[in-house]
Amino acid sequence: VYDIEFLIPKVPKFFNVKKYLVRMYNKNIFTNNGPTLDELEKKFHDCFAYNGNIVFCANGTLTLMLAYKFMGCKKALVPAFTFPATIQALHWAGIDYEFVDIHPTKWTISIEDLEEKIHKHKADLIVGVHSFGNPCNVQSIAQLAAINNCKVIYDAAPAISSFITENGKPNHISNYGDVSSFSMHATKALQAIEGGALFIKDKDLAARIKRAINFGLDDDRVPQEAFGINAKLSEIQASFAVCSLERLAYNQKDRIELVQEYYTLLKDHVTFQELEENSISTYQVLTVLLPKDQDRDLMIELMHQSGIQCRKYYNPPLHKVACFNKDCSLPVTEEICNRTISLPLHLWMTKQEVKKVCETLIAHVEA
Ligand SMILES: Cc1ncc(COP(=O)(O)O)c(C=O)c1O
Repeated sequence: VYDIEFLIPKVPKFFNVKKYLVRMYNKNIFTNNGPTLDELEKKFHDCFAYNGNIVFCANGTLTLMLAYKFMGCKKALVPAFTFPATIQALHWAGIDYEFVDIHPTKWTISIEDLEEKIHKHKADLIVGVHSFGNPCNVQSIAQLAAINNCKVIYDAAPAISSFITENGKPNHISNYGDVSSFSMHATKALQAIEGGALFIKDKDLAARIKRAINFGLDDDRVPQEAFGINAKLSEIQASFAVCSLERLAYNQKDRIELVQEYYTLLKDHVTFQELEENSISTYQVLTVLLPKDQDRDLMIELMHQSGIQCRKYYNPPLHKVACFNKDCSLPVTEEICNRTISLPLHLWMTKQEVKKVCETLIAHVEA
């Protein structure tokens, strides 16, 4: 037990969820496209001003698996600086892939390395990860994809409150790429407790995935997909998500205030992730780069001894993990993985606690 924990989920109040659960019992519809899922879909379109297609799934790993599987690509380029699910879902979908390095200050997929590898590996899919909520360089990726006839999927698991400002107007991150995949896990900014959402531009692809998540059954209940699966979001999960969506903007404001406090207090001591131009991050996780002379693992140990829980995120880098069996060199990824520490950030935290985290970290850095 720590004085300041790394992450404590803040899920919707029971009182708010209850009215949806009562309706669920009254109507006797618990899953399979019930009224709450329907309501959630409409609210998502409104809230994120998205006029493509949205498919909800039981979690954010299934969303990735299904999108990869049905996008019809063979060879993906993907960063190793990500959560294992980004890669595991490629394995489940049977898609070959190569790892790509990251940008040294933005920590999202490197455009230079993509350019170099796209021909060499005859890639037809770019997987961008909006790492910690920081949007990828979506414009450059779109150009590269167009020139090389590639599709683009964003693993946007931690990026539900991320935007890119165009012509003075914030555009939700789901508007970029062919598909964006979000997680609604209890620890994320928007929670279905477990859940995922796919934003899909192509209507036919969306219809196919929507059918696939219910065993691939057609209207006559005949399976049309060998890779059909059960990946439906239940009415219970949808109830949490609807209530969570109502609080999303308020919660994000509180989160940004805590992040600003971190910036103010730590800016002269550590390096923050540089945001992509004109972009707004969700700051799902607050990860900072320690000075070169610091031993990151020792720092985590010292923080823990001081009662503050910290983590290593996206670590080890996935090209170094035996089960993925890829032996390649990604110098920037390796450097960033070795020097970053993720600090406590959640909506139960006070600014006073942020101050304590910062003072403790600074004391250890300067010792
Ligand atoms: C980048 C990334 N991709 C995928 C996932 C998987 O999402 P889920 O936990 O909803 O399956 C996560 C979860 O944290 C993630 O951070």
